[in-house]
Amino acid sequence: MDNGQQAGNGVSKTACSVTPVPDGAVAEICERFGNDKHRMLDILREVQDRFQCIAPATMDQIAEETGLTRIEVEGVASFYSFLSLKPKGRITIRLCDDIVDRYAGLEAVTAAFENVLGIKIGETSADGAVSLEYTPCIGMCDQAPAAMINDIVLTNLTAQSAREAAGAIKAGKRPEDLVSARFATLSPHDRAVRMVDNNIRHAGAVLLGPVPEDAGLSKAVSITSSQIISMIEESGLRGCGGAGFTTGRKWRFAAAERTERSFVICNADEGEPGTFKDRVLLTERPHLLIEGMTISARAVGAKEGILYLRGEYVYLRELLEQVLEERRRRGLLGKAILGTKRFDFDIRIQMGAGAYICGEEGALISSCEGLPGEPKTRPPFPVNRGYLGYPTVVNNVETFCHAARILDQGAKWFHDMGTEGSHGTKLFSVCGDCLNPGIYELPYGHSVSELLEMVGGQDAAAVQVGGPSGAMIARDSFHRKLTFDDLATGGAIIVFNGQRNILEIVDYYMSFFVHESCGYCTPCRVGNVFLQKAIEKFRKGLANPEDIDYLKDLSGTIIETSRCGLGMTSPNPVLSTLANFPLVYSAMTQPSKDGIRATFDIQSAIDGARKIAKRRSYIFDRDFTQ
Ligand SMILES: Cc1cc2nc3c(=O)[nH]c(=O)nc-3n(C[C@H](O)[C@H](O)[C@H](O)COP(=O)(O)O)c2cc1C
Ligand code: SF4
Repeated sequence: MDNGQQAGNGVSKTACSVTPVPDGAVAEICERFGNDKHRMLDILREVQDRFQCIAPATMDQIAEETGLTRIEVEGVASFYSFLSLKPKGRITIRLCDDIVDRYAGLEAVTAAFENVLGIKIGETSADGAVSLEYTPCIGMCDQAPAAMINDIVLTNLTAQSAREAAGAIKAGKRPEDLVSARFATLSPHDRAVRMVDNNIRHAGAVLLGPVPEDAGLSKAVSITSSQIISMIEESGLRGCGGAGFTTGRKWRFAAAERTERSFVICNADEGEPGTFKDRVLLTERPHLLIEGMTISARAVGAKEGILYLRGEYVYLRELLEQVLEERRRRGLLGKAILGTKRFDFDIRIQMGAGAYICGEEGALISSCEGLPGEPKTRPPFPVNRGYLGYPTVVNNVETFCHAARILDQGAKWFHDMGTEGSHGTKLFSVCGDCLNPGIYELPYGHSVSELLEMVGGQDAAAVQVGGPSGAMIARDSFHRKLTFDDLATGGAIIVFNGQRNILEIVDYYMSFFVHESCGYCTPCRVGNVFLQKAIEKFRKGLANPEDIDYLKDLSGTIIETSRCGLGMTSPNPVLSTLANFPLVYSAMTQPSKDGIRATFDIQSAIDGARKIAKRRSYIFDRDFTQ
């Protein structure tokens, strides 16, 4: 009997032998999401959680229930790394494979899990109980090495604690038992902070200091939509997700659209390695965030909102659901908010499923629509045509929180903080080689040296500002300021001491981009593979001086010809280290023996790209000798 045929005993016999799929289970899951193809990610997540894989027969059934083709369902199921077409264990252990985790002892932690469980990374135990794998940054760089065990997060792992966790899992304990024997009785907030420390090292005036409840929303219902937008414009607030677009302008564009439906989406995807500030706001300021989204909805006339929560932060879901429910009860969400006629707004949580690209706003919207997380061609911009084709405001978690505080305290209060062009405060998530990793809320304008002093990072030889897509700077640039006009960052500050190998870090960051490219456009899909191969050549001491020009040329091509921000920034680890650490490269080159430039092994580079693209390229397969 082939995959998915009914076995006649009420259980589908599918490729997924771990947990059988009972009759009607898939239909029931689809129905719960209204058989709506736009809720495909929720449907597939639930199937994955319950049956540990999305088998061919299951995809056929989902396609039938939602009116899609099997290919369309498979396109989504195969896109996200937390979904699997092959059976996974009932417990999946995901070890965070960020460079910070590697430097903090990931190798020993991995060995401990492998030894106790008797499986290697990438394998599932023979009894189908446990899978062990690596995953890119899970947003816990201040407490690395970290791991996800199903929905549970373990931090500050050591070889010893990893052995204990693996032993407990092997002995049949549930992942939540690893956190607390009283797990079920703890509040969602207590559960979250038992698992993950907030590490708030410096609370500023805007977000992490005392915040009065819903004062901003009360103000918002007492003035017009246009006045709300004017306040946000006058405050100088700029987006905190990385690109720094002026928030007031974005809201004004959306408000100007004549439409019967519009949306407000919060981007809580936070996938940039080294960034974990939104995690702390989601844990400690969830009401402020929802207040900010609600104010935005009033400003642009939206009735529906989505909070897109990265799959790695699933441990915060219950806490956020509880906050939404409480606000509905208190008349702060739902119909006639705060008793205001025609002010209706509610929010649903959309879980991600392990794809960095979904932080890009077009990809995020695609993902909310139940599609693979592929960026959209712009224009049209989301404020004109976004989610389901309707005007959509997408803002970062921190941006919404700031907006709520601005409504309460006034535009001038916010504008007066920071510098010209970079107003207010910013949350910096600091990690790596420093004594006090964690969250620092500071006004814009501090220099990198000042920040290093605060965090106990005086031994720093290099600082990665803004995560891999930002810039790596050397000591001679530590006087530079953390502002939009000088060193812009969505928040990530990763400190590296003089013992670290710069080319190893660049190699790691390029492998991250290779892994996370959605594969839509060739320069990004293939070019990043070539860049990484070239960096490996430098690491092996096999490069020639001319290869430096190659790195620059290829980087330029990728930046110019990629469709979205991932490709436009992915060569930054290479370019910023070439500019700021030129000796690292020249020390690893040797002149070509006969003056002829040695070429890269093009064919093997292409093979890598093919595997990533999961398809054959007719150009690569053509015989150019004929
Ligand atoms: C590859 C990529 C990943 C991104 N990831 C995030 C993210 O995790 N969170 C975020 O707020 N913005 C992220 N962005 C920026 C968003 O596209 C968008 O600019 C932002 O959500 C807008 O909100 P803001 O104006 O409040 O910053 C990413 C952009 C790119 C190109
Ligand atoms: S630049 Fe990269 S991530 Fe962006 S659309 Fe192209 S292939 Fe996808």
